[in-house]
Amino acid sequence: MMDQSRTPLIDALRKHAEKKPLSFHVPGHKNGNVFPEQAKDLYEGLLSIDLTELSGLDDLHQPEGAIKEAQDLAASYYQADHTFFLVGGSTAGNLAMIYSICQPGDFVIVQRNCHKSIMHALELIGARPVFLTPEFNEQTGRYSEITVRQLEDAIQQYPEVKGIVLTYPDYFGHTYPLKNMIEHAHDHGIPVLVDEAHGAHFVLGDPFPTTALALGADMVVQSAHKMLPAMTMSAWLHVRSKFVPVEQVAKYVHMFQSSSPSYPLMASLDLARYYLANLKSDDVHKIIESIEDVRTLFQSVPYWDVIPGKKGIDDPLKLTVRVKPEYQSKEAASFLEQQGIFPEMTADQHILFVFGLKPFTELGKLKLALEQLKLARSLDKHDKIKRKPVVTKPVQALSISFHEMRNRVLEWVPWHQAAGRIAAESVTPYPPGIPFLLKGEQIEKEHIAAIADLIEKQQYIQYAKDHLEKGIYVFAEEG
Ligand SMILES: Cc1ncc(COP(=O)(O)O)c(C=O)c1O
Repeated sequence: MMDQSRTPLIDALRKHAEKKPLSFHVPGHKNGNVFPEQAKDLYEGLLSIDLTELSGLDDLHQPEGAIKEAQDLAASYYQADHTFFLVGGSTAGNLAMIYSICQPGDFVIVQRNCHKSIMHALELIGARPVFLTPEFNEQTGRYSEITVRQLEDAIQQYPEVKGIVLTYPDYFGHTYPLKNMIEHAHDHGIPVLVDEAHGAHFVLGDPFPTTALALGADMVVQSAHKMLPAMTMSAWLHVRSKFVPVEQVAKYVHMFQSSSPSYPLMASLDLARYYLANLKSDDVHKIIESIEDVRTLFQSVPYWDVIPGKKGIDDPLKLTVRVKPEYQSKEAASFLEQQGIFPEMTADQHILFVFGLKPFTELGKLKLALEQLKLARSLDKHDKIKRKPVVTKPVQALSISFHEMRNRVLEWVPWHQAAGRIAAESVTPYPPGIPFLLKGEQIEKEHIAAIADLIEKQQYIQYAKDHLEKGIYVFAEEG
């Protein structure tokens, strides 16, 4: 492994800034000299390194110096053949990964609950997605795991697929057995692309789940900014594949990235890799211990249950509470926010808390807020809402291609005329946030009954406009 105590990019930027140079180049803030006074104090420190492709600072699109070394250090640490720095988040990485494995009209296997950037990539390129629906987990109330069996079925039905795109871990840090799936795919000569946006720290090893790269994935995208001490939008894409040439990936990484990538973001990646690579197992132990104390504290709150995390399967940096059905998670979360405590996400019955890679030291503040939540005011009780899990087929392709969708006109139909038509909009009840009906899928009678039920229970449907109450947009029949 390369010398992980090095930080070539931040060093190069610092060296340049120390020269107190005169800027006759972009960006227009001229090293911070030209900047609105009302926020100068906030930006000042960063502006001196918000530079452009000057001598000594390398070029992300043709790296030969400090950026190359910083990427190589990351690749060496993650044991990838090549690591690309991304300044457009995992979103850019997902686009590049997918473009590098398929052509218009190709089949690609993908998890139904994938991030929208994956769907966007498939739609843009005009691939034909074959969806795997994860199983519903009663204990957590979430859809998270797909099975080897499902994958085998999908490959058998669509042997010509060009790739498999999996999401690992899910938003809540939950993973599933990936190794057998990757081996099965490789036996069929199919590359496996993993959206590991939430797992950039798994490389630390025990007690974190194993990284997708270590399990044999061909390409892995990680949002450094989500779980590492890195700036928002910084991410990377690792490649180690006998199926996909690095040059092919490079071509698309460059197409999907700005021609003026942010140096503070790239340097932040260099630093995040450095931070991670220099954490000792004792540091990790202290972090986990401090989170255990928070878990114990959270367990004393009567409004929720703390969902237990399984070692090696669930990310210990994530703590999810399941609010009891008679209370509302939004009410509990907004009470916490009033105390200055901001969780990552509040869903129907879940509140997700995400920890950083440093021992948590604010137990006192948390304790006070939770005491107030427990004693000062009891939450309102609500009627329990029994929601049926959304049922979709384990393996399902779209009825028409994205290309056809683009060429067809839309038509609005009332629900009683919708059966048999092809949906022109997706229906994603939230929670659980998994599309129940996808744009391009045929509408069945069961969909209509279930959507009526969702609407009656006033369940929130993502991106839906009022018209879902009475009907839905479909693609007009051809001819
Ligand atoms: C699973 C998953 N993949 C990809 C993304 C996109 O990541 P980014 O925000 O870094 O573009 C997200 C963002 O929330 C995500 O949750």
